[in-house]
Amino acid sequence: MIVSHKKVRTFQKVLYTTIIKIERGKGMKIIIINGSYRKNGATALILHEMYQKLGTYPNVEIQFYNVADLNLKYCVGCCKCYEKGKCIFNDDIENLSKNIETADGIIIGSPTYASNVSGQIKVLIDRGHFVIEQLLFRKYAVSVSTYENYGGKDTSKVLNRLLSYSGATISSSLFIKVPFSASPLRDSITQNKINRAMDKFYNDIYMQKSYICQKIKHFIIFRFGIFPFVIKKGSQYQGVISKWKKQGIKVLI
Ligand SMILES: Cc1cc2nc3c(=O)[nH]c(=O)nc-3n(C[C@H](O)[C@H](O)[C@H](O)COP(=O)(O)O)c2cc1C
Repeated sequence: MIVSHKKVRTFQKVLYTTIIKIERGKGMKIIIINGSYRKNGATALILHEMYQKLGTYPNVEIQFYNVADLNLKYCVGCCKCYEKGKCIFNDDIENLSKNIETADGIIIGSPTYASNVSGQIKVLIDRGHFVIEQLLFRKYAVSVSTYENYGGKDTSKVLNRLLSYSGATISSSLFIKVPFSASPLRDSITQNKINRAMDKFYNDIYMQKSYICQKIKHFIIFRFGIFPFVIKKGSQYQGVISKWKKQGIKVLI
């Protein structure tokens, strides 16, 4: 019996989707991080709304972190994490980073402070093993920035750069203008944006969607930037290479 290539491809696609669905039936883990010190501020309200929406889907485990609750130490630039794969400080950021390793998706939100992310998010970026260790490799992400006047897009850029350089597929990026201490949820447009972003996020993870432009961009950044840089460093960056191997990143030297 001769089976056409088209039929084989269709069969492979159905099989692949079924395997993913069975896998996903085991559960989806999503981590939400509120980068504002204000636990009831605009950023938190949006993130809590996202939490509620994601909670309506089956088999989703969601963990919510407020940076205000975390014990954050600044990066001291000792570079021991590159060698050992772990930080010299065993604090909340180290635990959060370990927890992110086993997540399927991450939502990170920050208010805009002086056209940038909050100080707490910057500490998280510096300390969280994100970019060089490719912490978000094969994970999906959503960024949220809130602002009052000007600079929300800049905040969004910082967050998106962190996410894409760390290997994540960015599902959505929301930057929401709202007067200080007002609720962003009073606006039905924002509500719709949140709902649509969460539907897409869930679907992207469930179907393991791939966005070709993001893939190419990440490939270039990783293979021509991060990879040769780390390899040149040799044993000083052994911890980074071990993390890559653990994640299934091909290390051909
Ligand atoms: C120290 C500080 C700096 C800020 N800088 C900016 C800014 O550069 N641009 C802007 O549009 N809003 C700025 N804002 C306003 C906040 O970004 C905005 O109100 C945000 O939604 C607050 O989020 P939160 O309620 O989650 O803390 C600033 C607020 C503070 C407290």
